[in-house]
Amino acid sequence: MNAAKTHGMAAVIERGAITVTPVRPDFIARVTGLDLRRPLSAAAIDAIEAAIATFAVLIFPGQPVCVDEQVAFGRRFGPLDTGLQTKLLSKVQTRLGNDAVSDISNVAVDGGIADRHHKQAMMNVGNQFWHTDSSYEHHPFRYSILAAQTVVGRGGETEFADLRAAYDTLDDATRDLIADRTGVFFSHNTRQWLGIDDSPADLTAYPPVRWPLVRTHPVSRRRVLWVDSKVREISGMSVPEGRALAHELIEHIGQREHVHAHRWTPGDVVMWDNRSVLHRGRRFDLTERREMRRVSTVDDSASLGTAD
Ligand code: OGA
Ligand code: MN
Repeated sequence: MNAAKTHGMAAVIERGAITVTPVRPDFIARVTGLDLRRPLSAAAIDAIEAAIATFAVLIFPGQPVCVDEQVAFGRRFGPLDTGLQTKLLSKVQTRLGNDAVSDISNVAVDGGIADRHHKQAMMNVGNQFWHTDSSYEHHPFRYSILAAQTVVGRGGETEFADLRAAYDTLDDATRDLIADRTGVFFSHNTRQWLGIDDSPADLTAYPPVRWPLVRTHPVSRRRVLWVDSKVREISGMSVPEGRALAHELIEHIGQREHVHAHRWTPGDVVMWDNRSVLHRGRRFDLTERREMRRVSTVDDSASLGTAD
Protein backbone atom coordinates (compact mmCIF):
# COMPACT_ATOMS: atom_id res chain seq x y z
CA MET A 1 0.00 0.00 0.00
CA ASN A 2 1.37 3.42 -0.92
CA ALA A 3 0.45 6.46 1.06
CA ALA A 4 1.78 9.96 1.53
CA LYS A 5 1.04 12.27 4.40
CA THR A 6 2.30 15.71 5.24
CA HIS A 7 5.18 15.91 7.69
CA GLY A 8 6.60 19.38 8.11
CA MET A 9 7.67 20.54 4.65
CA ALA A 10 7.79 17.16 2.97
CA ALA A 11 5.66 14.08 2.52
CA VAL A 12 6.31 10.87 4.40
CA ILE A 13 6.06 7.98 1.97
CA GLU A 14 4.88 4.58 3.16
CA ARG A 15 5.22 1.47 1.01
CA GLY A 16 4.19 -1.66 2.77
CA ALA A 17 6.08 -1.59 6.07
CA ILE A 18 8.70 0.85 4.80
CA THR A 19 8.58 4.48 5.84
CA VAL A 20 10.65 7.09 4.02
CA THR A 21 10.86 10.35 5.95
CA PRO A 22 12.44 13.21 3.99
CA VAL A 23 14.87 15.48 5.78
CA ARG A 24 14.51 17.98 2.91
CA PRO A 25 11.88 17.84 0.15
CA ASP A 26 14.23 16.19 -2.40
CA PHE A 27 17.46 15.53 -0.51
CA ILE A 28 18.23 13.09 2.35
CA ALA A 29 15.63 10.73 3.82
CA ARG A 30 15.48 8.38 6.78
CA VAL A 31 14.22 4.89 6.00
CA THR A 32 12.62 2.73 8.69
CA GLY A 33 10.52 -0.40 8.86
CA LEU A 34 13.16 -2.75 7.39
CA ASP A 35 15.70 -5.17 8.86
CA LEU A 36 18.80 -4.97 6.66
CA ARG A 37 20.26 -8.05 8.37
CA ARG A 38 17.65 -10.24 6.70
CA PRO A 39 17.02 -10.85 3.00
CA LEU A 40 14.68 -8.16 1.67
CA SER A 41 11.78 -8.64 -0.72
CA ALA A 42 12.00 -7.40 -4.31
CA ALA A 43 9.35 -4.82 -3.40
CA ALA A 44 11.55 -3.48 -0.60
CA ILE A 45 14.53 -3.19 -2.95
CA ASP A 46 12.33 -1.36 -5.49
CA ALA A 47 11.15 1.02 -2.77
CA ILE A 48 14.75 1.77 -1.77
CA GLU A 49 15.75 2.40 -5.39
CA ALA A 50 12.76 4.72 -5.90
CA ALA A 51 13.60 6.62 -2.73
CA ILE A 52 17.29 7.03 -3.53
CA ALA A 53 16.49 8.33 -7.04
CA THR A 54 14.65 11.21 -5.38
CA PHE A 55 16.56 11.80 -2.14
CA ALA A 56 20.11 10.75 -3.22
CA VAL A 57 21.06 9.80 0.37
CA LEU A 58 19.18 7.32 2.57
CA ILE A 59 19.82 6.92 6.29
CA PHE A 60 18.88 3.57 7.85
CA PRO A 61 19.17 3.93 11.63
CA GLY A 62 19.53 0.94 13.96
CA GLN A 63 20.93 -1.60 11.46
CA PRO A 64 24.01 -3.23 13.05
CA VAL A 65 24.90 -5.37 10.01
CA CYS A 66 27.89 -7.72 10.04
CA VAL A 67 30.25 -7.91 7.04
CA ASP A 68 28.31 -10.69 5.32
CA GLU A 69 24.95 -9.00 5.87
CA GLN A 70 26.25 -5.72 4.49
CA VAL A 71 27.64 -7.53 1.42
CA ALA A 72 24.36 -9.39 0.88
CA PHE A 73 22.38 -6.15 1.13
CA GLY A 74 24.70 -4.33 -1.30
CA ARG A 75 24.54 -7.13 -3.86
CA ARG A 76 20.83 -6.60 -4.25
CA PHE A 77 21.62 -3.35 -6.08
CA GLY A 78 24.15 -4.71 -8.56
CA PRO A 79 27.67 -6.15 -8.71
CA LEU A 80 29.96 -4.95 -5.92
CA ASP A 81 33.32 -3.38 -6.67
CA THR A 82 36.33 -5.47 -5.65
CA GLY A 83 38.95 -3.57 -7.69
CA LEU A 84 39.70 -0.93 -5.07
CA GLN A 85 40.53 -3.53 -2.45
CA THR A 86 42.52 -5.81 -4.75
CA LYS A 87 44.40 -3.06 -6.62
CA LEU A 88 45.15 -0.63 -3.79
CA LEU A 89 43.74 -1.10 -0.32
CA SER A 90 45.00 -4.65 0.21
CA LYS A 91 48.53 -3.24 -0.03
CA VAL A 92 47.84 -1.20 3.09
CA GLN A 93 46.16 -3.95 5.11
CA THR A 94 43.48 -6.63 4.89
CA ARG A 95 41.49 -6.70 8.08
CA LEU A 96 37.93 -7.47 7.04
CA GLY A 97 38.70 -10.41 4.77
CA ASN A 98 36.35 -9.61 1.89
CA ASP A 99 37.44 -7.88 -1.33
CA ALA A 100 34.03 -6.25 -1.68
CA VAL A 101 34.44 -4.41 1.63
CA SER A 102 36.51 -1.27 2.16
CA ASP A 103 37.86 -0.60 5.63
CA ILE A 104 37.01 3.04 6.41
CA SER A 105 38.47 2.91 9.90
CA ASN A 106 41.57 3.93 11.81
CA VAL A 107 41.94 0.40 13.17
CA ALA A 108 45.08 -1.69 12.55
CA VAL A 109 45.08 -5.45 11.85
CA ASP A 110 45.85 -6.19 15.50
CA GLY A 111 42.52 -4.53 16.39
CA GLY A 112 44.08 -1.49 18.07
CA ILE A 113 43.78 2.13 16.95
CA ALA A 114 46.18 2.72 14.06
CA ASP A 115 48.93 5.24 14.71
CA ARG A 116 48.35 8.57 12.92
CA HIS A 117 51.37 7.79 10.70
CA HIS A 118 50.03 4.35 9.74
CA LYS A 119 49.03 4.32 6.07
CA GLN A 120 45.54 3.17 7.06
CA ALA A 121 45.02 6.36 9.06
CA MET A 122 46.71 8.66 6.53
CA MET A 123 44.81 7.21 3.60
CA ASN A 124 41.41 7.93 5.14
CA VAL A 125 42.41 11.58 5.61
CA GLY A 126 41.88 11.78 1.82
CA ASN A 127 38.18 11.20 2.45
CA GLN A 128 38.02 14.66 4.06
CA PHE A 129 38.00 16.22 0.57
CA TRP A 130 34.75 16.51 -1.40
CA HIS A 131 34.53 13.49 -3.68
CA THR A 132 32.40 10.79 -5.17
CA ASP A 133 33.61 7.26 -4.72
CA SER A 134 35.65 6.24 -7.75
CA SER A 135 34.89 9.23 -9.98
CA TYR A 136 38.31 8.33 -11.42
CA GLU A 137 37.20 4.97 -12.77
CA HIS A 138 35.83 4.13 -16.20
CA HIS A 139 33.02 2.41 -14.34
CA PRO A 140 32.52 4.57 -11.28
CA PHE A 141 30.39 3.49 -8.39
CA ARG A 142 26.65 3.86 -8.35
CA TYR A 143 25.72 3.36 -4.71
CA SER A 144 27.97 3.34 -1.68
CA ILE A 145 26.72 1.79 1.54
CA LEU A 146 28.61 2.80 4.68
CA ALA A 147 27.98 1.15 8.04
CA ALA A 148 29.20 2.56 11.37
CA GLN A 149 30.41 0.28 14.17
CA THR A 150 32.32 2.67 16.44
CA VAL A 151 31.95 6.42 16.34
CA VAL A 152 33.95 9.30 17.80
CA GLY A 153 32.75 11.76 20.41
CA ARG A 154 33.39 14.87 18.40
CA GLY A 155 33.74 15.52 14.63
CA GLY A 156 33.78 12.55 12.26
CA GLU A 157 30.48 13.49 10.61
CA THR A 158 30.00 12.59 6.97
CA GLU A 159 28.73 15.48 4.86
CA PHE A 160 26.77 15.16 1.63
CA ALA A 161 26.47 17.90 -1.02
CA ASP A 162 23.68 17.87 -3.60
CA LEU A 163 25.13 17.99 -7.15
CA ARG A 164 21.67 18.55 -8.64
CA ALA A 165 21.05 21.67 -6.55
CA ALA A 166 24.61 22.73 -7.35
CA TYR A 167 23.87 22.59 -11.07
CA ASP A 168 20.49 24.29 -10.70
CA THR A 169 22.01 27.24 -8.82
CA LEU A 170 24.93 27.92 -11.17
CA ASP A 171 24.80 31.35 -12.76
CA ASP A 172 24.16 31.39 -16.52
CA ALA A 173 27.67 32.45 -17.49
CA THR A 174 29.28 29.61 -15.55
CA ARG A 175 26.74 27.16 -16.91
CA ASP A 176 27.68 28.23 -20.45
CA LEU A 177 31.38 28.09 -19.62
CA ILE A 178 31.27 24.45 -18.52
CA ALA A 179 28.48 23.17 -20.81
CA ASP A 180 30.68 21.26 -23.24
CA ARG A 181 33.78 20.75 -21.16
CA THR A 182 35.28 17.63 -19.70
CA GLY A 183 37.42 17.10 -16.64
CA VAL A 184 40.33 14.70 -16.18
CA PHE A 185 39.84 12.75 -12.95
CA PHE A 186 42.89 11.13 -11.38
CA SER A 187 42.70 8.64 -8.54
CA HIS A 188 45.71 10.01 -6.65
CA ASN A 189 45.06 13.73 -7.08
CA THR A 190 44.27 14.44 -3.43
CA ARG A 191 46.68 11.80 -2.14
CA GLN A 192 49.55 13.50 -3.97
CA TRP A 193 48.47 16.88 -2.61
CA LEU A 194 48.37 15.35 0.88
CA GLY A 195 51.91 14.05 0.46
CA ILE A 196 51.00 10.37 0.65
CA ASP A 197 53.94 8.49 -0.80
CA ASP A 198 52.40 5.99 -3.23
CA SER A 199 54.48 3.62 -5.32
CA PRO A 200 54.71 3.99 -9.13
CA ALA A 201 52.59 0.82 -9.42
CA ASP A 202 49.86 2.36 -7.26
CA LEU A 203 49.94 5.58 -9.27
CA THR A 204 49.24 3.70 -12.49
CA ALA A 205 46.59 1.34 -11.09
CA TYR A 206 43.86 3.65 -12.39
CA PRO A 207 44.75 5.56 -15.57
CA PRO A 208 43.15 9.05 -15.54
CA VAL A 209 39.66 9.24 -16.96
CA ARG A 210 37.76 12.04 -18.69
CA TRP A 211 34.12 12.86 -17.88
CA PRO A 212 31.74 15.62 -18.98
CA LEU A 213 31.35 18.26 -16.23
CA VAL A 214 27.57 18.22 -16.68
CA ARG A 215 25.72 14.92 -16.67
CA THR A 216 22.09 13.86 -16.62
CA HIS A 217 21.13 11.37 -13.97
CA PRO A 218 19.70 8.34 -15.82
CA VAL A 219 16.79 7.80 -13.41
CA SER A 220 15.82 11.23 -12.04
CA ARG A 221 16.76 12.93 -15.37
CA ARG A 222 18.12 15.83 -13.31
CA ARG A 223 21.31 17.53 -14.39
CA VAL A 224 24.27 17.32 -12.05
CA LEU A 225 27.49 19.30 -11.77
CA TRP A 226 30.09 16.56 -12.00
CA VAL A 227 33.27 17.86 -10.37
CA ASP A 228 35.20 16.62 -7.37
CA SER A 229 38.64 16.87 -5.83
CA LYS A 230 40.02 14.29 -8.26
CA VAL A 231 39.81 16.76 -11.17
CA ARG A 232 43.27 17.84 -12.24
CA GLU A 233 42.53 19.33 -15.66
CA ILE A 234 39.60 20.84 -17.59
CA SER A 235 39.39 20.67 -21.38
CA GLY A 236 40.26 23.80 -23.36
CA MET A 237 42.03 25.41 -20.39
CA SER A 238 45.58 25.59 -19.12
CA VAL A 239 46.26 23.30 -16.16
CA PRO A 240 46.21 26.19 -13.61
CA GLU A 241 43.03 27.70 -15.08
CA GLY A 242 41.30 24.29 -15.02
CA ARG A 243 42.37 23.55 -11.45
CA ALA A 244 41.24 27.00 -10.29
CA LEU A 245 37.85 26.47 -11.95
CA ALA A 246 37.48 23.01 -10.41
CA HIS A 247 38.25 24.53 -7.01
CA GLU A 248 35.67 27.28 -7.55
CA LEU A 249 33.02 24.75 -8.61
CA ILE A 250 33.71 22.58 -5.57
CA GLU A 251 33.29 25.64 -3.36
CA HIS A 252 29.95 26.26 -5.03
CA ILE A 253 28.90 22.64 -4.51
CA GLY A 254 29.95 22.75 -0.86
CA GLN A 255 27.88 25.82 0.07
CA ARG A 256 25.96 25.15 3.27
CA GLU A 257 22.54 25.24 1.62
CA HIS A 258 23.49 22.25 -0.55
CA VAL A 259 24.98 20.27 2.34
CA HIS A 260 23.68 17.88 4.96
CA ALA A 261 25.97 16.63 7.75
CA HIS A 262 25.28 13.15 9.11
CA ARG A 263 26.34 12.64 12.73
CA TRP A 264 26.86 8.92 13.20
CA THR A 265 25.37 6.60 15.76
CA PRO A 266 26.70 3.00 15.92
CA GLY A 267 24.44 0.79 13.80
CA ASP A 268 23.66 3.50 11.24
CA VAL A 269 23.81 2.45 7.62
CA VAL A 270 23.92 5.27 5.07
CA MET A 271 23.48 4.64 1.36
CA TRP A 272 24.14 7.31 -1.25
CA ASP A 273 24.01 7.70 -4.99
CA ASN A 274 27.48 8.72 -6.18
CA ARG A 275 25.90 10.13 -9.35
CA SER A 276 23.96 12.77 -7.39
CA VAL A 277 26.08 13.82 -4.41
CA LEU A 278 29.60 14.53 -3.27
CA HIS A 279 30.57 13.52 0.24
CA ARG A 280 33.40 14.04 2.68
CA GLY A 281 34.33 12.93 6.16
CA ARG A 282 34.99 15.58 8.80
CA ARG A 283 38.12 15.83 10.90
CA PHE A 284 38.24 14.01 14.22
CA ASP A 285 40.83 13.17 16.87
CA LEU A 286 42.84 10.30 15.35
CA THR A 287 43.59 8.89 18.79
CA GLU A 288 39.87 8.00 19.04
CA ARG A 289 38.59 4.82 17.43
CA ARG A 290 36.35 5.32 14.39
CA GLU A 291 35.25 2.11 12.74
CA MET A 292 33.23 2.02 9.55
CA ARG A 293 33.06 -0.22 6.49
CA ARG A 294 31.74 0.33 3.02
CA VAL A 295 30.50 -1.66 0.04
CA SER A 296 29.86 -0.04 -3.35
CA THR A 297 28.03 -1.13 -6.47
CA VAL A 298 29.58 -0.64 -9.89
CA ASP A 299 27.78 1.64 -12.31
CA ASP A 300 27.29 -0.08 -15.65
CA SER A 301 25.06 2.66 -17.06
CA ALA A 302 26.23 4.03 -20.41
CA SER A 303 24.06 7.13 -20.14
CA LEU A 304 26.44 9.13 -17.96
CA GLY A 305 28.52 10.40 -20.85
CA THR A 306 31.66 8.94 -22.32
CA ALA A 307 34.81 8.32 -20.40
CA ASP A 308 38.08 8.05 -22.29
C1 OGA B 1 33.67 6.69 2.20
C2 OGA B 1 33.99 8.03 2.74
C3 OGA B 1 33.80 9.44 4.68
C4 OGA B 1 33.76 9.22 6.16
O1 OGA B 1 33.43 5.78 3.00
O2 OGA B 1 33.62 6.55 0.97
O3 OGA B 1 34.38 8.90 2.01
O4 OGA B 1 33.15 10.06 6.83
N1 OGA B 1 33.79 8.18 4.04
O5 OGA B 1 34.32 8.23 6.61
MN1 MN C 1 34.17 8.22 -0.13
